[in-house]
Amino acid sequence: MGKDKKKTKKTSISGKKSKEQKKNKGVKYPKEPLFLDRNESQTGPVPEVYKFLKKVDMELLSWYSRDFMLGIKSRLSKRIADDYGFDEKHVLLSYGSEDLLKQIIHCYVNPGDKILIPREAWWYYKKVASERGGTNVEYPMKKGTMDGIPYYLYDVDTMIQIYNDTKPKVVVIASPNNPTGNRIDSKDLKRFLDATKDTVTMIDEAYWGFGSTENEYVKPYIDEYPNLVICRTFSKFFALAGFRIGFAFAGKNLDVLINFTTRYLGYNRVSEKLGEIALDNIDWYLKIGKQYEKDKEMMYRTFLNLKGFVPFRSFANFMLVDIPVEIRAGLKKYLDERNLKIKFLDEDAFRTEARISLGTKEQNKLLMDTIVKYCKEVDWK
Ligand SMILES: Cc1ncc(COP(=O)(O)O)c(C=O)c1O
Repeated sequence: MGKDKKKTKKTSISGKKSKEQKKNKGVKYPKEPLFLDRNESQTGPVPEVYKFLKKVDMELLSWYSRDFMLGIKSRLSKRIADDYGFDEKHVLLSYGSEDLLKQIIHCYVNPGDKILIPREAWWYYKKVASERGGTNVEYPMKKGTMDGIPYYLYDVDTMIQIYNDTKPKVVVIASPNNPTGNRIDSKDLKRFLDATKDTVTMIDEAYWGFGSTENEYVKPYIDEYPNLVICRTFSKFFALAGFRIGFAFAGKNLDVLINFTTRYLGYNRVSEKLGEIALDNIDWYLKIGKQYEKDKEMMYRTFLNLKGFVPFRSFANFMLVDIPVEIRAGLKKYLDERNLKIKFLDEDAFRTEARISLGTKEQNKLLMDTIVKYCKEVDWK
């Protein structure tokens, strides 16, 4: 998975090439499915990660961490706390940010309670409240444009109104949001946090790092809003999804969560080291991020030149695109047959859209060329 592999040449018994082969002449499609459907990295982590893994020793594998003897949860939480100017107690570690969301809900939602979540959002938000007998209240996003490209926007007036009307126990904002790719504007965020100050509010920043590596607001916000928790992960920007490691900054009223997430025998020591290595090599990741930005521009342009396709500006490693219904099923089949797997969404908020996770420069070009090729073949113009 992940690397384009040469397709072996296949000809019919007569020695003649099939119609399909003639059509694909000169194009190398991956031999195995290329998964551009779960916002995973196709580049992988910084090379230092592999170097470290080659020399992992018995101590790291067989012994618990003794970081508790230093009065901290872990060296990684301490490292993050120092980088951001926090007391280590306020930095939480977890098994990915999925786990943080689950723990927040399990700490603060009781049967019958409501959680406030975006309607156009990651499907898991919609499921998690039910694990505690809670229910969802959804707030809608609105559509607009940013620098000439269609863009989703948080509608803060509506969000505040719904919040006041429904009094949820937990509020979730995602920035950048999945699958729409939009960020919440900083003034809007402040206004919303002022309104929800007394309620546990989670900002899911799983896609932090793509397009912006801003951090300056983290400490002031956590100081100002005692019920705020800002969640991040090493899965996306740092390309370590397989190691399942996330972290969060928690405000001073969130002792229940702080205690609940604390593991007295420590965390996964290998993951913690990998997290530190990733943080030491941010410049390497920024270079990869720059390529994503270039590729997204290329993809917006390409889609806008195709009849009926609507790409949405994204600050993440994926992009949402609305696909004309007339060719959606055909395009899906065409891409599937060529091992190009993007996510054709089929849920209440998204019936005609697909979400494309970005791959390498070559993979992104291959995908876009293939979509253009399909449109030509079916004479879609
Ligand atoms: C918006 C959002 N939040 C959180 C996650 C979970 O990421 P992880 O548990 O790998 O940190 C995902 C994964 O796709 C996501 O899309």
